[in-house]
Amino acid sequence: MEYNIALLRGDGIGPEIVDSAVKVLEKTAAKFGHKFNFKPYLIGGCAIDKTGVPLPQETIDGCLASDSVLLGAVGGPQWDDQPGDNRPEKALLGIRSALGLYMNLRPAKLYPALRSASPLKDEIVANGFDILIVRELIGGIYFGERGIRQGRCGEEAFDTESYSPMEIERIGRAAFEAAMKRRKRLCSIDKANVLETSRLWRRIMHGLSEEYPEVEYSDMFVDNAAMQLIRDPDQFDVIVTSNMFGDILSDEASQITGSIGMLPSASLGASTRGLFEPIHGSAPDIAGQNKADPLATILSGAMMLRYSFGLSSEADCIENAVNSVLDAGHRTADILGTSSNTPLSCTEITNKVIEVI
Ligand code: IPM
Ligand code: MG
Repeated sequence: MEYNIALLRGDGIGPEIVDSAVKVLEKTAAKFGHKFNFKPYLIGGCAIDKTGVPLPQETIDGCLASDSVLLGAVGGPQWDDQPGDNRPEKALLGIRSALGLYMNLRPAKLYPALRSASPLKDEIVANGFDILIVRELIGGIYFGERGIRQGRCGEEAFDTESYSPMEIERIGRAAFEAAMKRRKRLCSIDKANVLETSRLWRRIMHGLSEEYPEVEYSDMFVDNAAMQLIRDPDQFDVIVTSNMFGDILSDEASQITGSIGMLPSASLGASTRGLFEPIHGSAPDIAGQNKADPLATILSGAMMLRYSFGLSSEADCIENAVNSVLDAGHRTADILGTSSNTPLSCTEITNKVIEVI
């Protein structure tokens, strides 16, 4: 089969890690007899430099015309003085919204070979953990009414959160469906003891839970969830939560795996076109030095094959190759842990994955 993939390399280490993933995808295509056509578009700081805006219309149109989108990372200190609505990060919100990607899947899995890189004590991660965070991505406080106004104490800034039943139901359903394909446990995280949006969230989730009697459903307040994640991460299977809570909890969940450089993510909507990107950022401090860990982007490529194109054997092939490279003891600098091995460069570890495929 032939697929058109839009590439949003972005800033910092973005170009290096996307190029690694492209090489891996090309090798996979050759092995399985597919053809991937890659087309690059500007996003983030590099787009500001070339066009004045972080998300040019041409990028949106190119993504809409593609079968799926692979993204590196955006941002860096040179754009820190941009006004709020012209910052590189704004492009992420813009592309998510333009493509209608309401569901963000962020797996946080402790790889057995990398247990020593986890900052949690051995006794806590003895059984490992494998969590899927399902984050609502184009609603809530990120997209609500905002501004500066005159308040009781003079000038004040405000951001507002709103969620409609439709927005909650579609992400909730996606989470229940994901749980059905896994260990059938779903925890919905909110702040229903304080927030009106959370109370509606909870009501809709409870309604859905009646449609999925096989899923063991629970609710948890977000402050407790932040604590439970480091106390006993293995209690979680699938987590579903709002845009901002998901932003925060997914960073926490990825950090406790000890290998944020390895975690991919998928953003999906009503069509099969998705946006696939590593969870980590643009790491400007190591950009251009061939030190970056490309595995999260390579695994994001695998997620694209699985979720956008339905190519699960091909996705398995990439994921297995990454696992065997790790099992053989190969590491980039970020996941060395206590190992005394010499770290591999970005291109070296990419080539190891390609050899296995
Ligand atoms: C993420 C990032 C973004 C977000 C920022 C960069 C806008 O933190 O993808 O988690 O908050 O969604
Ligand atoms: Mg974040």
